[in-house]
Amino acid sequence: MPSATAPQVNAANGTNGIKEPLADVLHVIDSRTGQHLALKIQQNAINATDLKQLKAPKDSEHPEYQNEQGLRVYDPGYSNTLVSESKITYIDGLEGTIQYRGYSIHDIIGKKKFVDLSHLLIWGHWPSAEEAQTYQKRLNDVPLIDESVFNVIRSFPKKGSILGMMVAGLSALQSSSMETIPAHAAKNLYMGQPENVDQQVIRVLSSLSMITAAAYCHHIGRDFTPPRKDFSYVENFLLMTGTVEPSTGVPNPRYVSAVERLWTCVADHEMTCSTAALLQTASALPDVISCLISAISATYGPLHGGAIEVAYKNIEEIGSVENVPAKIARVKAGKERLYGYGHRVYRVTDPRFTYISQILGELSEEAAKDPLLQVAFALDRAAAEDEYFTSRKLRPNADLFAAFAYSCLGFPAEFILPISVVSRTQGFMAHWKEAMAYTEGSPRIWRPGQKYTGNLNQKE
Ligand SMILES: CC(C)(COP(=O)(O)OP(=O)(O)OC[C@H]1O[C@@H](n2cnc3c(N)ncnc32)[C@H](O)[C@@H]1OP(=O)(O)O)[C@@H](O)C(=O)NCCC(=O)NCCS
Repeated sequence: MPSATAPQVNAANGTNGIKEPLADVLHVIDSRTGQHLALKIQQNAINATDLKQLKAPKDSEHPEYQNEQGLRVYDPGYSNTLVSESKITYIDGLEGTIQYRGYSIHDIIGKKKFVDLSHLLIWGHWPSAEEAQTYQKRLNDVPLIDESVFNVIRSFPKKGSILGMMVAGLSALQSSSMETIPAHAAKNLYMGQPENVDQQVIRVLSSLSMITAAAYCHHIGRDFTPPRKDFSYVENFLLMTGTVEPSTGVPNPRYVSAVERLWTCVADHEMTCSTAALLQTASALPDVISCLISAISATYGPLHGGAIEVAYKNIEEIGSVENVPAKIARVKAGKERLYGYGHRVYRVTDPRFTYISQILGELSEEAAKDPLLQVAFALDRAAAEDEYFTSRKLRPNADLFAAFAYSCLGFPAEFILPISVVSRTQGFMAHWKEAMAYTEGSPRIWRPGQKYTGNLNQKE
């Protein structure tokens, strides 16, 4: 959509700042600003990330940056390359804000129940009182996971990977209903079939919560407690993991409130690495558990969800406030990364970090028992003042203090990613449902291009 002032491309006569045609170069003109890029062509391909050099107009009122609701639809600060459309979550990486379905997280945290947020993310609107009740009932009516699923989890070494147990538990669940797997049913079951999709979403949300709790109980050698029909999603998770008050046998309401808010912070985060993995798999039209397993596997990486545990363990290794400068020096020398710092999207402090810090502040009585928290604060202060981090706009992300907040509730570092996966599965399900709602034309499998750089036609 060229604007009236857009320069005309004329590579041959050198107008508009474009030099004479260069060999193997693609000229790109941004019609909004007149900015010119000369992108190198190699093997008939350009590097898509070179397009990031395009700078959007500063004026956020520019029509190309608003959708019909008046929301900015691109973040000009980090990328102009639109990968995939979605109506679920909007992140402004320059302002440090998150909106779920157009509602600011600021107006949701502490004001809405997590299960209502789950409904908003997946079904696109806040539930009415009746819808909320029906939703909670449907979640509570999902049958207890089968003994075969428990057995798979129990077959793991006790101290083994909780995330590994979850993936195995999900595989066992998947195998218990072969009729839900399109390849075996030999037909499309989900694309354009919202009733089947909704049924699977509910089944997965409740079953994953049970599987995660069962895996945790196995890991720490505790008995699994079955969920209760009269409990909320979060209450049941705490109950199943045995996170209850000895005097009452039910979860501490302060902890329920903290988890509701911690989960709200990370319930979705638009096109993360794991969401992309989920959608990549979904594009081949398998069942939802296959998609979820792809997503969960992606979260395990230390650059993504795995960073929560690494950040905590790095702070354990630092051990005391005096050792913080040496850690910062190693990071600056390029020998190590500072986990819990930096983000692909945010150029300001991750808003989730701010909310998690607030929740941690509320749990000050429990937090005071953790001497490592002072080390984490000192690390954050040192990085915030250091030119290496400020010049690169590296700020704390959601993962820096997440493990500390959960440790106040009694959970060990290795369980924080599994817990966060249960929360993020609301977002995963929203993205799966959105992908399966695609009805225009025939489904298109995601198949990224490859530039072959190896040898050809070799002979020994
Ligand atoms: C999240 C992350 C993967 C984003 O990576 P990215 O968008 O590719 O970041 P970039 O590579 O563009 O980083 C820009 C610069 O900052 C540096 N940098 C980024 N994150 C850094 C970190 N955590 N520690 C030290 N340096 C870091 C990069 O080395 C690069 O430096 P250079 O310009 O001198 O080469 C990255 O910040 C990171 O590894 N953080 C630690 C892991 C983490 O906490 N992940 C959880 C995210 S919620």
